[in-house]
Amino acid sequence: MKRGKRTTSWTRYLLPALAGLWLTAAAAQQPAAPSQTAPTPSGPQPSGAAGGALKNPYTDNPQAIAEGKKLWFSRSCNGCHGGMGGGGMCPPVINDTWVYGSDDKTLFELIKYGSVELQKKGYTRIGRENVVAPMPPFGSVMSDDEIWKVLAFVRSIYHGDPKLRNW
Ligand code: HEC
Repeated sequence: MKRGKRTTSWTRYLLPALAGLWLTAAAAQQPAAPSQTAPTPSGPQPSGAAGGALKNPYTDNPQAIAEGKKLWFSRSCNGCHGGMGGGGMCPPVINDTWVYGSDDKTLFELIKYGSVELQKKGYTRIGRENVVAPMPPFGSVMSDDEIWKVLAFVRSIYHGDPKLRNW
């Protein structure tokens, strides 16, 4: 495969796997929300293991955000996403472009199960960030409660368009 600079090593690994997933997902469901408009919670969301609508109980809770910030650093989220979430070797988590969607359920499942498992649940990349790579799962090293707290921290550093907030 000598396709030039636009093919990164990540895509070389991921493309064959993704091609299969795309076919499966396309057959099953079409999450059609473009990245610039916030996907509505009532939109065509594939249902994950937990099912139903998941809501973060800690959004805008200052104490949980402070704990989430500690987790952000102690669980090395900062190593990939940058200390204040602006990205680096991995996508930023503060802008209004969301790879799989911006709602609580999607992001909870992404952090818990990782992007490979998430795609097996039927999610596809609907948004495009500067870097395309897999996100590792944290479900074995973080409790659900900790995941919600770190997500509350992520919400607190959001710099995108306030109108696109759907959480
Ligand atoms: C090894 C690097 C790495 C680590 C560590 C990591 N992430 Fe990620 N994260 C990624 C990548 C890569 C993506 C994009 C996934 C994709 O495109 O499938 C991502 C995506 C995300 C997104 C969605 C971003 C968007 O624009 O849609 C959130 C939120 C997120 N990560 C939160 C976290 C949290 C919280 C932690 C720590 C518990 C964490 N990440 C740890 C690599 C990492």
